[in-house]
Amino acid sequence: MGVAADNLARHRGDYGVDAPYAPIILGGISLGLLTVSAILALVGSTFWVAFLIAGVWMGLNTASFIYTTRAGKFAVWANLLRQLDLRGDERILDMGSGRGAVLMMAAKLVPRGHAVGVDLWKSADQSGNSLDAARRNADLEGVAHRVELVTGDMTAMPFEPASFDFVLSALAIHNITNPAGRRKAIDEAVRVLKPCGRLVIADFRSTDEYAKRLRELGANDVTQRPLDWRYWYGGPWTATKLVSATKPAR
Ligand SMILES: C[S@@+](CC[C@H](N)C(=O)[O-])C[C@H]1O[C@@H](n2cnc3c(N)ncnc32)[C@H](O)[C@@H]1O
Repeated sequence: MGVAADNLARHRGDYGVDAPYAPIILGGISLGLLTVSAILALVGSTFWVAFLIAGVWMGLNTASFIYTTRAGKFAVWANLLRQLDLRGDERILDMGSGRGAVLMMAAKLVPRGHAVGVDLWKSADQSGNSLDAARRNADLEGVAHRVELVTGDMTAMPFEPASFDFVLSALAIHNITNPAGRRKAIDEAVRVLKPCGRLVIADFRSTDEYAKRLRELGANDVTQRPLDWRYWYGGPWTATKLVSATKPAR
């Protein structure tokens, strides 16, 4: 495909902020610590340095979160999508597509294919999340004619078995709070994949569970690896990991 990763990461749409309460909490803690540090310095306590360091550290975590959600994840996914070596006529599913950050990039790589996003459009998981916001982004990115947006739960998806060449998911499956539900989402991903189809999941927790379930389901080439600092939602302990697998031929 002729779209360079840098170009792919550039976008016209507005994709909001993931888990919008999180940077508000992180930033609030940072400000609180810096305020206490200033007060301690004024009253002559030596503890001000410790609070200053903690406040700056929390500030850096907040900046990392905002960078990831507004820019970093686009750059990382542009590379990941390019590495899929798409022919351009595939059917791609994005589970928990939200406002479409990954979905629209995938759609740009399949000019003769189809990109489907399934979501429940929860605004606690992404600011301004809605079917209309995703539709607007598809228009702005010039891919509306090959993007389909479906309201549905990824634990019970309204798609035929073996109907997608690729299934993707970005920072979405962890939002299912119970392990049985997350397992069901993985089962669903494998069910709707065509034989030899590939699954690529980025998430910042529960990825061991996904890899284990994929192995139980007999998936091939199940791998798990951490992605780089551009996909941290805060410090290194929030590093997003990538799980990938291939559905067996039969
Ligand atoms: C943090 S957002 C990520 C959105 C998008 N993948 C991205 O990277 O920009 C998580 C998304 O998962 C969706 N979601 C959460 N639980 C879901 C479920 N059970 N079924 C479908 N979507 C779900 C939310 O509505 C939200 O759009």
